[in-house]
Order: sequence, then C-alpha cells, then structure tokens
Amino acid sequence: MKITVVGAGAVGATCADNIARKELADELVLLDIKEGIAEGKTLDMFQTASLFGFDTKLVGSTNDYSKTANSDVVVITSGLPRKPGMTREELIGVNAGIVKSVVENILKFSKNPIIVIISNPMDTMTYLAKSVAGLDKHRIIGMGGTLDSARFKCYLAKAMDVSINDIHGTVIGGHGDTTMIPMKRLATYNGVPVSQFLDAETLDKVAADTMVGGATLTGLLGTSAWYAPGAAGAALVEAIVRDEKKIMACCVSLEGEYGQSDICLGVPVVLGKNGWEKIVDYKLTEEEQAAFNKSAEAVRNMNSVLAT
Ligand code: NAI
Repeated sequence: MKITVVGAGAVGATCADNIARKELADELVLLDIKEGIAEGKTLDMFQTASLFGFDTKLVGSTNDYSKTANSDVVVITSGLPRKPGMTREELIGVNAGIVKSVVENILKFSKNPIIVIISNPMDTMTYLAKSVAGLDKHRIIGMGGTLDSARFKCYLAKAMDVSINDIHGTVIGGHGDTTMIPMKRLATYNGVPVSQFLDAETLDKVAADTMVGGATLTGLLGTSAWYAPGAAGAALVEAIVRDEKKIMACCVSLEGEYGQSDICLGVPVVLGKNGWEKIVDYKLTEEEQAAFNKSAEAVRNMNSVLAT
C-alpha cells in the first residue's frame, strides 16, 4: 500500500503522522512545493518511529511527483488555510489553481488512485478534482463531514458530560459554516436519541457551535485547525485501506441521491477498498431536505465560479 499526502503544512503533516502511526501504508510520501519542508517533516516523523513502534517507509519530496508513482491513495491538503474572519469560500481562487495542478501531476505517475480532497472550499475542490481527474466517481472523496461529525460529537459529549465514545452523530451537507447540517434527529447516546437528554434549546446550541466549530478554532489559533482535520483525514484513509465498510459523512458525487445531481456534497457513505461504495439514505424529513437543498444551492453557486 502506497499513500501520498500533498501539502506538508499543518493539516497534511498531521494527517501523514497519523497514517504513519497507524501503519496504514508500506510507503508514505509527503510532498510540498516549499523547498525542504516535506523532507524535514518526514525525517522528523521517522525519528518518532522507534518511539511509537511503527515501521513505515517515509519519503519527503519538494514537488518531485515521480516519488509519488503508483500511489493507491492520495490525500490533497495543499492550499491556503483561512485566517480569522475569513470564510472557506474566500479561498476558492487560489486553491482551485493549486488543486487542479496537483491532481494533474499526480495522475502523470499514478493511473487509478483514490483521491481524498481536504483543501478548502472542500466541496468545490472535490467537484473540481472529479472533473479534472476523470476517474470513476467512487474514487474521489472530499473530507469535511468526517471532521464536522467529530466536532458535533465533541460538543454533544461536552453538553451531556458523558463519554464521547458513547455518542453517535453525523453532519451532512456542505462543509461551510452555514451549509453544514448537524443531524440532530439521528444523534444518539449509545443508541438512545440525544433529545431524551438535552432540551431543544441546548441541542440547537450544540448544532450552532458545531457549524462554527472551524471558525471558533481559527479565532483562537489565528489559522485553521490541524489535529482534528488531520485525524479525520487519516480515519477516512484507514476505512479505505483496511476495507472497513464504515459509514462516514463524505463529500461525493451525487446523481439523484438526496434529490441532487451534478454536485459533490456531504452524505453518509460506506467506505471500503474501492473508495466510497454506497450512499446511505437517511430518509430526510421535509425540513431536513429543505436544508440540504439550500446547502446544495450555496455549493452550486460556488462551483459556478470555477467556470469563470
Ligand atoms: P498550511 O498553510 O499549513 O499548509 C498548506 C501547504 O500547502 C503549505 O505547506 C504549502 O507550501 C503547500 N502548498 C501550496 N501550494 C502547493 C502546491 N501547488 N503543491 C504542493 N504543496 C503546496 O495549511 P493547512 O492548515 O495545512 O490547511 C491546508 C488546507 O486544508 C487549507 O485549504 C485549509 O483550508 C484546508 N482545511 C480543510 C479542512 C477540511 O475539513 N476539509 C479542515 C482544515 C483545513
């Protein structure tokens, strides 16, 4: 198994570190355009190998795509992160150019990889990657819902003061502060609806905190977060390479599912060795479907910028 992570910044390096520690790959390549950073970070990571007890071949590369040849999975994190006060959408101009060139370079050396997009605005970058790559739709996956769901579970566990490992919760729709949809109706505490433990006002506050979860961290850190985004990327890769058949919220190409087409948007999917294998139907209520349609409209507006 060969995995490449493009972008050795905060998110890419954290994702690569998690992939190495979980021993998901025989060979892990970290590539960045900035001279020396990927080589430095992989060397630093390799110096933790004897401490953590992992044994993965780590390769750092300054923009030499031949090192990524025959990758099974490629995670793309290259691009600008947002600063306090910025929306993810404001990154589109610069990051579209970066993501397009990275996908083209990757495909010169790897014929049929599964591509995981993390760069923002992620829904639009996934749509772009799908059209540039021309691969089977199941092999293009955007990571946003996995992170947003982890944040939803974090805020639920805090509000209920219970173990986060007993909490299930999913966020679907777009990966934007106003476009994501925390699925309050389906959130459970060990199978029991959380609405039995939280009043409506508190649950609404949890959902609202989840939606601005990234912005809250950007305000505190001065740039966007990396531990949870990197871990979410690695968890998604793990579900693929270990063929786990886990259900995770991922941004995938919709062709009529959830009432939408010609768009990549977050929905629950089964993940396995072929990428996303099946879309799970949550059977949305009228209100949830209206929110999903609104989210799709916002993402579609953003996608239209790509054509200009
Ligand atoms: P960062 O600035 O720490 O790292 C980005 C890296 O990309 C830099 O090292 C830069 O040199 C590299 N890069 C830029 N252009 C490149 C190119 N053409 N080829 C190769 N490498 C290139 O940023 P950070 O915090 O790691 O965030 C990366 C991206 O991930 C941002 O767009 C951010 O908004 C996004 N993000 C997405 C999340 C999600 O849930 N989908 C969560 C958090 C961040």
